[in-house]
Amino acid sequence: MRKAVILISGANGEIGHGLIRSLSEKGGLPIVTLDIDQLDSSLNSTVQDAIIGNILDRNLLQRLNAEFEISAIYHLAAVLSKRAEFSPMTAHDVNVGGTINMLDLAMEQATSRGKTVKFFFPSSIAVYGMGSGENKGNAGSITEDDFRSPETMYGCNKLYCENLGIYFSNHYKRLSAESSAGLIDFRAIRFPGLISAVTRPTGGTTDYGPEMIHAAAQSQPYVCFVRETTSLPFMTMPDAIRAIVKLMDSPPDSLSRSVYHIMAFSAAALQFKEKILSYFPEAEINFLVNDKRQSIVDSWPAEVDDSPARQDWGWKPKHDLDSAFDDYIIPEIRRRYAE
Ligand code: SER
Repeated sequence: MRKAVILISGANGEIGHGLIRSLSEKGGLPIVTLDIDQLDSSLNSTVQDAIIGNILDRNLLQRLNAEFEISAIYHLAAVLSKRAEFSPMTAHDVNVGGTINMLDLAMEQATSRGKTVKFFFPSSIAVYGMGSGENKGNAGSITEDDFRSPETMYGCNKLYCENLGIYFSNHYKRLSAESSAGLIDFRAIRFPGLISAVTRPTGGTTDYGPEMIHAAAQSQPYVCFVRETTSLPFMTMPDAIRAIVKLMDSPPDSLSRSVYHIMAFSAAALQFKEKILSYFPEAEINFLVNDKRQSIVDSWPAEVDDSPARQDWGWKPKHDLDSAFDDYIIPEIRRRYAE
């Protein structure tokens, strides 16, 4: 008998940390994790099996397929936007090759059991390409279907994988005798910058927001690589986790699309600095613009219109900029660095 589980790839990353805790508290099927690194030991008691391995290792995926009955996959493994610009081929291998392997695993599982497998994919504001800083300023709050011309390898990978997920859900092998449509239930969220008080981001571009906060909490100086006036949408990690759980729990007929974008607040880098100074008055935060990294941030929107997510599955962030700091970031981060 295969063991009934849910599978989380890239589980040791920032989203994984929050998602594992949330899903294990919620109860339900045991969790199996897959990550290239060892899972943070503090999470061990919440998972049934923490497998160390590469999502590109097809032998390993075949073993998982034989051993487990997987009803949902949360495919979080990815090379983020900064690292991807230094190693585009590796990023493509991991982000695209890894995603199609996981979709294929989901399809094998669904076909062998004749049951739908749910698939969650974290996409990103990186799928957008605003064209210029001026367009970004003029565009205001954009819809999911606007400006889908990514300028980064990571953004190209995410946009393509969204389409792969939709293909596996709706049109897989459309010319073969047996239709496979509906065997995968693919759902994706394009996330804005995420801020966790318990983990530190690595390898991304939106990292300047959380990095600034973590540096201040540790009394370290921070040099921010974007202009003071640069704005991006953000949200706290607990809001992101709530969103994933809510979207995945929604009945299929309530969803008008497979891919939604969401945000909680749009903030300029200077607003982060001012907020941080109000809690850590000694914090040393300076701005030294890195034009290349600035150009990536300028290609991402300052705001997204998330009304489809609000209407279809009741998305509503708990934290705006003020409550993000007051109720989550500051208390948690103080606790974290006091330990
Ligand atoms: N936070 C990601 C990055 O900066 C974007 O999804 O790469």
